[in-house]
Amino acid sequence: MKSNWIVEQTRRGVAQFDRAMTEMYPESNAYLKSARDYLDTVGETCNYIAACELVPWENYLPSNAKVLDMGCGGGWLSAMLSRVDSVETIYALDSSQHFLQSLLPQVMALMEGNQFKLVEIEGLFQPLLFDDAHLDVVVASSALHHADNLESVLKEIRRTLKPGGLLFVLNETPWPGYRHLLSVLAASVRTLRDLSLQRYRPVSPSVSASGYLYDPALGDRDYPVWYWKEALRASGFVIESVMDTGMPTVKGSKGRSLIHFVCRAA
Ligand SMILES: C[S@@+](CC[C@H](N)C(=O)[O-])C[C@H]1O[C@@H](n2cnc3c(N)ncnc32)[C@H](O)[C@@H]1O
Repeated sequence: MKSNWIVEQTRRGVAQFDRAMTEMYPESNAYLKSARDYLDTVGETCNYIAACELVPWENYLPSNAKVLDMGCGGGWLSAMLSRVDSVETIYALDSSQHFLQSLLPQVMALMEGNQFKLVEIEGLFQPLLFDDAHLDVVVASSALHHADNLESVLKEIRRTLKPGGLLFVLNETPWPGYRHLLSVLAASVRTLRDLSLQRYRPVSPSVSASGYLYDPALGDRDYPVWYWKEALRASGFVIESVMDTGMPTVKGSKGRSLIHFVCRAA
């Protein structure tokens, strides 16, 4: 007799983000349960929506555009872009069942998105099950730093984009190189302290030259600005602009500025 556990193991494995959010950050339960509270958080408490409204979308989106929203979360960006006339289809992809099944439909309704343009995809960043050169535009807000291997996901995006197609890496918060170095040094010192004191940690941040995984539960990684640029170039993109929005993640705070990378498939 044979059993194949792979499909079910993968399905349960990818539910990890939903579980991690609610277990590690119980306060997120409050705003993740209701679409209105979720939109208040991303749009009123935080600057995610305001920062993306700075992009002159109408100038960038070609007519009949096929757009992929990678790691769409509750789908506010998909809803926003579905209202742009030139967008024909918006694929909203996320591995989180909760975001796609519970929040996205309500967010679309609250933001008056165009349901007829929306294709929801419960899926992973890669492999993308699109043919080569299927897409005109890919957007990813605060999502790609979750990729286990940034360059490999960027190359997969490049494969699915038409030549000259656009990738918008949105709402990332990269430090300048020297500041990233300081943060990695501090993490290294904490790691050495824990090891020398033999402090047991079931999971812990990891430091490497290809990204600092500072929140292993959620898969949040830090890369400095120069690293994003190198990864984008190595994956076949030309960087058209780096937009520093001057907006911190949380409104009125002194946090890092939300940054957009606008890139064209070479
Ligand atoms: C910080 S949230 C950003 C959500 C949304 N784009 C926004 O700006 O509010 C990151 C999203 O990426 C999704 N995600 C993380 N890793 C993923 C993966 N490997 N494949 C697909 N989605 C992933 C998570 O489920 C989550 O919804």
